[in-house]
Amino acid sequence: WPMNVDRVGGELTIGGVSASDLVAQFGSPLYVIDEGDMRARAHAWKSAIDESFADLAGGDVFYAGKAFLSVAAARWMAEEGLSIDTCSEGELRTAIAAGVPGSKIGLHGNNKSRAEIELALQAGVAHVVVDSLAELALVEQVAGQRGQTAPIVLRVTTGVHAGGHEYISTAHEDQKFGLSISTGAALRAVEETLAASHLELVGLHSHIGSQILAVEAFQAAANAILALRAEISALHGVTVPEIDFGGGYAIRYTVIDDVPPAPLTYTAALAGAVTAHVVESGLAAPRVSIEPGRSIVGPAGITLYTVGTIKNVELEEGSRRYVSVDGGMSDNIRPALYEADYTAALASREPFDEQVRSRVVGKHCESGDILVKDVALSASLGPGDLLAVPATGAYGRSMASNYNMLPRPGVVAVSDGSVKQLIRRETVEDLLTFDEDA
Ligand code: LLP
Repeated sequence: WPMNVDRVGGELTIGGVSASDLVAQFGSPLYVIDEGDMRARAHAWKSAIDESFADLAGGDVFYAGKAFLSVAAARWMAEEGLSIDTCSEGELRTAIAAGVPGSKIGLHGNNKSRAEIELALQAGVAHVVVDSLAELALVEQVAGQRGQTAPIVLRVTTGVHAGGHEYISTAHEDQKFGLSISTGAALRAVEETLAASHLELVGLHSHIGSQILAVEAFQAAANAILALRAEISALHGVTVPEIDFGGGYAIRYTVIDDVPPAPLTYTAALAGAVTAHVVESGLAAPRVSIEPGRSIVGPAGITLYTVGTIKNVELEEGSRRYVSVDGGMSDNIRPALYEADYTAALASREPFDEQVRSRVVGKHCESGDILVKDVALSASLGPGDLLAVPATGAYGRSMASNYNMLPRPGVVAVSDGSVKQLIRRETVEDLLTFDEDA
């Protein structure tokens, strides 16, 4: 649960605002972000990097906007001293609209369009993270046409396999991202970058996956990328100035999940790897960066739903209560896509009467439309009650769809008893405006 959650008269309040007031004002389902919580997590990462790398060359935290981005959220991150990692024109333009200077924006992606590269160079981004040799050539061409030198970070794959579901694990060989160290693709990209006239090699990048608890996995990847830095120095006589260790730091979704390491535990481990590299190679310390997304906004968000139909399904092992709500896989695809587990709580009144094992499902026409597989909820639950699903701040709204022509829910931020709408709720009328024949 976000840090500013409480129960007042039995009812859940977030940032000092009651769940029923939020739904009365902004409708249901509704994404709610505890602004103070999100800012505190961003600040914790920034302080951890500053502390761990104070005696090295310092570092930056790029908030991974893919987890959740709005103009206000980008602005909060900038106010907390973070940069923004973007991976599309839309994310880039959101960061720019927030007034984030180009020097505090990064551009990612394995298939950037020419227009995206042009926009990034025009904005003067801190770096373009290049994912393939083909893209390197494209960036060289665009930079040349603009008469600019593009700051390049090469995304390499270290061979470290880590992370939750296979779909979110990214550093093994057989997947689309990065330039492989082991096959020599990474070194080849280094050579081509150094030889190009409009590219400057500013860094190396590795992102090994998402929802990773093991500090050792980050250390292993760090060792591999730092060894590459030493090899580049030996081969070409250049010291790569920056190393980006990516994101992927785990959060807790349910009470049975392990408690993830604190930011400082991760950054201290990374700093240990960098210190060893500096001692062994004799090279100057690199400036580092990391790209956490989920671990900043995930725990800060909850989704509110309104209960509708309730059904008991008789099974051999007993009955299961299916509680349907007014959203589902269109506002949270993660259970269907990654078999992700969530929990839920009765939000609109005292939840502590007799409990019944329940499954919270959405309103979509699919049996896999499950939000919470198994949770104990009040026996008296009925239509109109509000449920809160915590830890939905990351990859909820940002991966939402209009499946079954459902309008996407709005996003509000709560702080010290006040509410601010970040993204307004869509309406069916909005959706019909895209239909040329409606
Ligand atoms: N940096 C890069 C290059 C990434 O690809 C990602 C996530 C991040 C940073 C941020 O990772 P985080 O700290 O948020 O785990 N949609 C999935 C996860 C896939 C994320 C892809 N890239 C989910 O809902 O779990």
